[in-house]
Amino acid sequence: MQMTELIGKKRDGGKLNAAEIDYMIQGYTAGSIPDYQMSAMCMAILLRGMDEEETLNLTLSMVNSGDTLDLSAIKGLKADKHSTGGVGDKTSLVLCPMVAACGVKIAKMSGRGLGHTGGTIDKLESFPGFSTEVSDEQFFKNVNELGIAIIGQTAELVPADKKIYALRDVTATVPSIPLMASSIMSKKLAAGADVIVLDVKCGDGAFMKTEDEARVLAETMTKIGKGAGRKCAAVITDMDQPLGWAIGNALEVKEAISVLRGESGGDLLELCIALGSCMLTVGGFAPDNEAAAGMLREAIASGKALEKLADMIEGQGGSRCDVYDTSRLPAAPVVKELLAESDGYVSAIAAESVGLVSMQLGGGRVTKESSIDLSVGVVLKKKVGEFVKRGESLAQIHAASDEAAEKAAKTLMECFEFSAEPVVRPRFIKDIVM
Ligand code: URA
Repeated sequence: MQMTELIGKKRDGGKLNAAEIDYMIQGYTAGSIPDYQMSAMCMAILLRGMDEEETLNLTLSMVNSGDTLDLSAIKGLKADKHSTGGVGDKTSLVLCPMVAACGVKIAKMSGRGLGHTGGTIDKLESFPGFSTEVSDEQFFKNVNELGIAIIGQTAELVPADKKIYALRDVTATVPSIPLMASSIMSKKLAAGADVIVLDVKCGDGAFMKTEDEARVLAETMTKIGKGAGRKCAAVITDMDQPLGWAIGNALEVKEAISVLRGESGGDLLELCIALGSCMLTVGGFAPDNEAAAGMLREAIASGKALEKLADMIEGQGGSRCDVYDTSRLPAAPVVKELLAESDGYVSAIAAESVGLVSMQLGGGRVTKESSIDLSVGVVLKKKVGEFVKRGESLAQIHAASDEAAEKAAKTLMECFEFSAEPVVRPRFIKDIVM
């Protein structure tokens, strides 16, 4: 077999078989196929596409390029969730304890943030003493006994994706449905969960700009999940502004806790109920999404969801007191209000730019090696569709110094757009694919 022939076949719209896909993926991972040939193949796939069978075979071959996690030592169904990325996305911190309180085992590996995006692992490290680096034995023990653990990635999962993603990033081949779906799903399959629920974002700040594109990606990924023998569902959500109110590590943890306490709701709770309902329903824990939503709301009302978060924090070295008293979490020395300069309706909040403001305050990494300030960030006071009066607060800036807060205020003001007329926010949950 020759890589040149395979590139030509795909260039001409042909279908690659399982052996050909495996030759290409394992060869590229091992280094026998050079970057320039793989780049040409990625472009051919982007232009010609792949059918369902090819996309599944591509995903399975990528899974086989590295380690896979065997979760069989954990009793019961294990669930995992993936988001295609968002600013202020603290969903896992709310969703995982909620579904764990309903009896689903959460055995989750999460990542760190880079650039304007936050990572669950960084957010969790806002709890003093909390460790995201635990042995496999401890991980399995915690999930078995507490029903929940979230750790950093340990095993070398899907090395093929690391190499291919780096190549796609510099060859304009990221926005291809088969390449994105196989990239995301190979990592989810390798991480071993039985139930996988996907949050597929669409809109300006997302990879998928339109609802139709997002639906195709969601359908492709759920078909891969089911084709690989997992239970899978996806929720398509609008990404026209940051999710929830807070952007920044400890600030997002505090918001997540307020939702688990039943004190805060909005789009974050709506998303967690939608994702959690899918998990409970496809996992067989609830007869339908409506019943599942009732179970999840009850988990909050009874305090059990908050207790699950406390169990997890304590089980991984933190103190459960920090969950019940958030004044113990990191807090920035300077809090500055961003005041509206005139009356109007908030018509847009540029999510990515708000993420960059948080990063510039020190809350995000510029490179993988940079250290971050867990206390800083932004708390929105108004969201799209709300009316604001001149002099009212649009947002709070949490900063390490007056100077940093002053600088951030200028950029943050540019993230807001206003309208004299009332603004109707587009539907947040666009669709559910089960
Ligand atoms: N996230 C991934 O992990 N892979 C992609 O291709 C796009 C987003």
